[in-house]
Amino acid sequence: MNVSEAIFTRESIRAYLDKPVLTEDLEKIIEAGQWAPNAGEFQISVIRNGELRKRINDATHNKMVHSGIEFLQERVSLPGYQPLYGAPMLILLSTPTESPYSAANTSLAAENMLLQATELGLGSCYIVSPTLALNDADNRSLAQEAGIPDGYKLQCAVIVGYAAAENKFGVGERAKRGTVQYVD
Ligand SMILES: Cc1cc2nc3c(=O)[nH]c(=O)nc-3n(C[C@H](O)[C@H](O)[C@H](O)COP(=O)(O)O)c2cc1C
Repeated sequence: MNVSEAIFTRESIRAYLDKPVLTEDLEKIIEAGQWAPNAGEFQISVIRNGELRKRINDATHNKMVHSGIEFLQERVSLPGYQPLYGAPMLILLSTPTESPYSAANTSLAAENMLLQATELGLGSCYIVSPTLALNDADNRSLAQEAGIPDGYKLQCAVIVGYAAAENKFGVGERAKRGTVQYVD
């Protein structure tokens, strides 16, 4: 698969098989993130522990329920909805709290990971919902367990795994977005 094919076939996968990701594939995905353009520090925490992933999932679910944000509350009330969608791998990208360009640094790394996962035949999704839980002072010890250092803030996360047959919990058709103006 070339880069164009990865860009055009990548899609957000929201249902996963209970099948682990090979270590060699995981390492390629992480390394792809590390080669992204960047302008600052960030930490990549790879959550391989299923029990810890479940606690992050449940804490996120709880924050979505109590978010007061209609879109999130609608999503989380869908029968069987889990914020981490049962993915066997969770990758957290965090940065020093006051560091500039943090969202850009981590999102560029995340996109590289999504494209690398696509090339490897794996499903993936960029998610920010775990920030609701892991950036909340109530969950500081959970964030520490998840490898987010003191003084760091979670910016975004990537989930990876083998896609289930039905991509449940989609948010609509995949579409080309953004407006374009060529200026000559
Ligand atoms: C800033 C941002 C936050 C997102 N957070 C979530 C999330 O928490 N959960 C989720 O399922 N998808 C999340 N997404 C994925 C988008 O819903 C998805 O990329 C969009 O619907 C387009 O679909 P596609 O990725 O299949 O092209 C997020 C995307 C962005 C850019």
